[in-house]
Amino acid sequence: MSEFILEKIFEKVDNLPPFPKTAQRALELLREDEVDYKSLEEIVKSDPAIAANFLKLVNSAAFSLPQKVDSLLKAFMLLGVDQIKFILLASVSGKYFSKDLTGYGLSAEDIWLHSIVCGIAAEEIAHELKLSVEKKESLYIASILHDLGKIVLDLYTNLEEKRFHQISEENPKWDFMQIEWLALGVDHGMVGGYLLKRWKFPEEIYFAVRAHHDPDLMVQSKVSAIVALSNIIVSLLGITGGVDAFNYKVPENLLEVSGLDSKTIEKILPRIYRRTLLLGRLFV
Ligand SMILES: [Fe+2]
Ligand SMILES: [Fe+2]
Repeated sequence: MSEFILEKIFEKVDNLPPFPKTAQRALELLREDEVDYKSLEEIVKSDPAIAANFLKLVNSAAFSLPQKVDSLLKAFMLLGVDQIKFILLASVSGKYFSKDLTGYGLSAEDIWLHSIVCGIAAEEIAHELKLSVEKKESLYIASILHDLGKIVLDLYTNLEEKRFHQISEENPKWDFMQIEWLALGVDHGMVGGYLLKRWKFPEEIYFAVRAHHDPDLMVQSKVSAIVALSNIIVSLLGITGGVDAFNYKVPENLLEVSGLDSKTIEKILPRIYRRTLLLGRLFV
């Protein structure tokens, strides 16, 4: 049944801008051993919305640059490759998260902030676990775009927030994934994963997005476990994904599969919290 519903939704999805070529080309350049920052500047500048978001984010205290910058090139020089990638992906997501998602009870700013902070949580975890450059890139993409499916469902179905509340009241023991299935015949993780697969992202990435609320799937790889865990951390900080308010099942071995223990979580939580506060000033 879900395949049929997905097909119906994706018949309309061509209106959604594809993953920007700008970001794809910039990421390719950033994989080179010697990065050509002048060319990178040209590429990022070619998309004014991404360039503006990049400068906005880079000047937020969350990324702790020693000085304010008004040029992309200067920012690149002051940031490491890893941070450039992260901020670039966060800037790209701003292009998608630019409309209120009324069905999910989210303003455009809420969902963008939720996505960036999820990326920050994943970034801090990746740093703590000393993950490889490739794993970090997959994690950044999957965590920042994990709720992409909400945009698609909000745009292309007749979704109303009150319908979610009504189902939840009638079925108080259900988690939000079950509620979404009754309301829409699909859940936003599945839709986001399907879209990223269509955009030809690596399986590691679209699987993590697909799995981020599914307790059986999320523990099948380290990347999917970390994305799911980062989303939980963001919700614990009170930056929820809207109407779902983190009403989901969490498997017992999530921490273990992520490669973390509760002591490490206690260590990194304040860092994520502090960076979120610094970032939050951008959105008020
Ligand atoms: Fe989600
Ligand atoms: Fe989320």
